[in-house]
Amino acid sequence: APRLLTDLAALRGQVAAWHVAGETVVLVPTMGALHRGHLAVVEHARTIGRRAVVSIFVNPTQFGPSEDFSRYPRDVAADIALLAQAGADAAWTPEAAAMYPPGFSTRIEVAGLTDGLCGAFRPGHFSGVATVVTKLLAQVRPDVALFGEKDFQQLRVIQQAVADLDLAVEIRGVPTIREADGLALSSRNRYLTPQERSVAPRLHAVLNDIARALRDGAAAAGPLSAGITALEAAGFAVQYLAVCDAHTLAPVAQVAGPARVLAAVYLGATRLIDNVAV
Ligand code: PAJ
Repeated sequence: APRLLTDLAALRGQVAAWHVAGETVVLVPTMGALHRGHLAVVEHARTIGRRAVVSIFVNPTQFGPSEDFSRYPRDVAADIALLAQAGADAAWTPEAAAMYPPGFSTRIEVAGLTDGLCGAFRPGHFSGVATVVTKLLAQVRPDVALFGEKDFQQLRVIQQAVADLDLAVEIRGVPTIREADGLALSSRNRYLTPQERSVAPRLHAVLNDIARALRDGAAAAGPLSAGITALEAAGFAVQYLAVCDAHTLAPVAQVAGPARVLAAVYLGATRLIDNVAV
C-alpha cells in the first residue's frame, strides 16, 4: 500500500531519503476520483523511476465560479485502494488550508499558450493549474513528473512554465487512455446519462476523421467545418474544434509539422475534451 502523507515535512523527509538512496522519484499529480487513465499514468511512472508519488488535491483555484468544484467527485479511500493495486509508493494529500493559507499571494501566468482553446473559455483555469503544479513540484521535488496527453494544453502549459522557471524536473506526456469505443477516460464521464454515454465516443471518431483528412493533405478549414456539422448532428454543442501546432498551440490552416486536433464539447451539462495527433 502507498505511504499516506499529508504533512509537508514528512513528504520532504521521505523523498529526501529516496534521493539519498539514489532512487529516482516520479510524480503523478491528480485531483483524485482515480480511474484507469490515471492508473495507467501511475504504472508508466513505475517503468521510468524507482518511486512513484501520486498527489491527490482538488485544486479550488483552477475551477471557475460556475464550474463543478463543490460537486467534483471525492473518494480518497477508494483512490488509495486503487493506488495500492497500481503500485504507487506514496500518496501526497495536502490540506487546502496548508496549500493556500491566509495571505497566499502568488500566481503563475503562462501567456500565449493559454490564450486559446480551453484557456479562452475558462479564464484563470491554467493560472490555477500552473500555480498548483509549481507548488506540487516544489513540495515533492520529483526527478520526473507525468501528465496525460488527454489534457494536451495543460501538458504544454506545464512544460512551458517549467522551462521558463528553470525548474529541475523533466515533464513527460503519457498517451490518452480510452474506453474500447474510443471515449477518453475522464472523472467527468460518470456525469453522462446512458444516452449521452452512447453518443460520447463520436467525439473521438470525428477527431480521427479530421486527422486522417489532414494527413491526406487537406487544408484545415474543410475537415473542421465537416467535423462541426457531424458533432452537432450527433447532439454535441461544440465549444471549440481546432487544428493547432503541437508546440505553440497556434491554429494552423495547412498542416506542415507536428499538429493536434483538439475539441471541447458539451453533451447535456457535461463538458468533454479530447485531442488526437495528426
Ligand atoms: P486530473 O484531471 O485528476 O488528471 C490527473 C492526470 O491524469 C493529468 O495529467 C491528466 O491528463 C491525466 N489523465 C486523466 N485522464 C486521462 C486519460 N484518459 N488518459 C491519460 N491520462 C489521463 O489534470 C488534473 O487532474 C489537474 O489539472 C492537476 C494537473 C492535478 C492540477 O490540479
